[in-house]
Amino acid sequence: MKKIRYAIIGAGTMTQEHIQNLSIIKDAEVVAISDIHRQSIIKCKKILKKQVLFFKSHKELIKKNIADVYLISTPNFTHLKILKDVLKSKKHILVEKPLCVNTKDCIEFKKLAKNYPSIIWTAMEYRYMPPVAKFIQEIHNKSIGNIKALSIREHRFPFLVKVKNWNRFSKNTGGTLVEKCCHFFDLMRLIIKSEPISVYASGNQDVNHINERYNNKKPDIIDNAYVVVNFKNGVRGLLDLCMFAENSDMQEELLAVGNKGKIETSVPSQQSGKSSSEIRIGLRKNLKTKKQTIKVDKKILNAGYHYGSTYYQHLSFIKAIKKKMKAEVSLQDGLVSVAIGEAAEKSIKEKRLVYMKEIVN
Ligand SMILES: NC(=O)c1ccc[n+]([C@@H]2O[C@H](COP(=O)([O-])OP(=O)(O)OC[C@H]3O[C@@H](n4cnc5c(N)ncnc54)[C@H](O)[C@@H]3O)[C@@H](O)[C@H]2O)c1
Repeated sequence: MKKIRYAIIGAGTMTQEHIQNLSIIKDAEVVAISDIHRQSIIKCKKILKKQVLFFKSHKELIKKNIADVYLISTPNFTHLKILKDVLKSKKHILVEKPLCVNTKDCIEFKKLAKNYPSIIWTAMEYRYMPPVAKFIQEIHNKSIGNIKALSIREHRFPFLVKVKNWNRFSKNTGGTLVEKCCHFFDLMRLIIKSEPISVYASGNQDVNHINERYNNKKPDIIDNAYVVVNFKNGVRGLLDLCMFAENSDMQEELLAVGNKGKIETSVPSQQSGKSSSEIRIGLRKNLKTKKQTIKVDKKILNAGYHYGSTYYQHLSFIKAIKKKMKAEVSLQDGLVSVAIGEAAEKSIKEKRLVYMKEIVN
């Protein structure tokens, strides 16, 4: 079968991860990239296994009509404008998270994309980390009965340095709880199978980027928070984020409790070097315990920094294209994950419970 041809907009860190993953997927190939940043282009050229076309602007790239997929992997604040241009192509779209920097822009784009003839998929790739995917499957199979509470902890390293330091300011990213944590809010919604009604968060910029200055401006992004999300079906989600915990053994820890038991898993940090983790289900009845080891192939782990999720997301995306299926991660999923993040940022600023209806009508 013909390879799916990817054209990538943006040549930065995340694109380099996409290139490495696509190079180990036999059904896919990168055919073109657009960017103007010299260092990003040089880095891409170093890891590309074959020659691809480079363009200075995405509009030039789209005009060439040489791809089946446009992958948008540029700074968050550029997504909306580029998405609008790519819509004209009618080709499949994979857009990096967060869909846009705020809910208003996501809504605007969703309206424009109504009746789009091809797939538009928001890259909420944490769904595809092998231990997380198994955790979700077990919960949906009722292994712990009916879920009542879900807790996600991410303790990791600070934000990396990005091209022109765009990620140091909330106006470019949406704020930490949109930029980074849209992944976790997406997981909560997916796992809990309900919609959020309100959010309470407490957080601050306590340690990271405090002494950095860009054009005399201090970064305004928080580096730790607790966020409680209340869902319509009564289930609560808790996010515990800390971004000055680079020496963690596990980067993400997920726990859910149901009326019949509890399930736990974790995602090893890159620096731990671990390629396997465990799913543990502890039932209340007779205190029975079930454990399973989830291993990830080293070749897949070495193709990126997201514990195999970039690879498995591409496999699902390509399958959806080939089998003419719908996007597994829809625009609505992208939108609500941003909206919860926006509500959490607002809750921190205004020190109060924020209702989702204040953010999305
Ligand atoms: N899925 C994940 O877990 C994950 C992880 C990291 C980053 N991301 C997302 O990926 C996107 C890119 O982040 P990054 O880490 O690669 O940033 P980066 O700063 O490393 O790279 C961004 C690149 O985009 C280029 N660019 C800017 N405007 C452009 C335009 N109009 N056309 C073409 N290129 C343009 C810049 O020159 C730069 O080379 C962001 O939305 C980010 O949130 C997702």
